[in-house]
Amino acid sequence: MNASHSLVSTAAATLSAMDSRAQTLVQVSGLGKMFTLHNQGGIRLPVLQDVTFEAGRGDCLVLSGPSGTGKSTLLRCLYGNYLATEGSIRIRDTQGWVELTGASEQTILRLRRNVIGYVSQFLRVIPRVSTLDVVAEPLRAGGMEAEAARERAAGLLHRLNVPQRLWGLPPATFSGGEQQRVNIARGFIGGHPVLLLDEPTASLDADNRAVVIALIREAVAEGRCLIGIFHDEAVRDEVATRILPIEPAVTAGALE
Ligand SMILES: Nc1ncnc2c1ncn2[C@@H]1O[C@H](COP(=O)(O)OP(=O)(O)OP(=O)(O)O)[C@@H](O)[C@H]1O
Ligand SMILES: [Mg+2]
Repeated sequence: MNASHSLVSTAAATLSAMDSRAQTLVQVSGLGKMFTLHNQGGIRLPVLQDVTFEAGRGDCLVLSGPSGTGKSTLLRCLYGNYLATEGSIRIRDTQGWVELTGASEQTILRLRRNVIGYVSQFLRVIPRVSTLDVVAEPLRAGGMEAEAARERAAGLLHRLNVPQRLWGLPPATFSGGEQQRVNIARGFIGGHPVLLLDEPTASLDADNRAVVIALIREAVAEGRCLIGIFHDEAVRDEVATRILPIEPAVTAGALE
């Protein structure tokens, strides 16, 4: 990480400003998530129950478990997209611990700018914005000057083998694998201390999977904290520093 980057990129600056003895960045305790299906007569669907873990610098914590156990739901709770129905999620920023569950919109947005990044399974395409600017945006939000941000975006797109002829176009019409690589570039560029990854290699070929594995390992070596879902066992074995099994929730009084 060069000096100009850490000066202007808020997320990366957060990591260097943090007390390096503060190893733990995420503390989850007794977390539960119950969905209430209002358009289905208020059926209650328990998904996560009593999830407790810590993750910190240099971790790549991999969530594992069968389809439908709530792995993506857990990442969405950690990003403040879903409100947990029980328990606590604490995230460390430069000021200390912040409780995410029940936090104000403003606090959630601040944490997303400075601390938590998220590579969702699918790119949320912003109409009419070029790929280069989609990727550069997290650096611009941290105050980096446009040309410098675009240069870094170009470097990452190049590394992820996104053809240069596509950089000036909005990614809406790109293939699944191309969109996923744009999404990965956008997620990694900001240098967020905590990065959530939801199956980032699902639609990638072997060469690009290897690039993503390298990016993950570099982020871990820099002391960032990654929490991710990887269905591909070979990828999981290459990146995981720890595995967290997510158990299916049990409905109280459930019939067989
Ligand atoms: N917004 C929602 N409203 C209602 N139910 C939801 C919602 N989001 C997720 N669920 C339910 O929560 C359960 C867990 O979903 P989730 O996507 O977290 O699973 P997952 O472990 O990521 O599965 P996969 O490995 O298939 O991606 C599913 O039964 C799903 O239908
Ligand atoms: Mg999922």
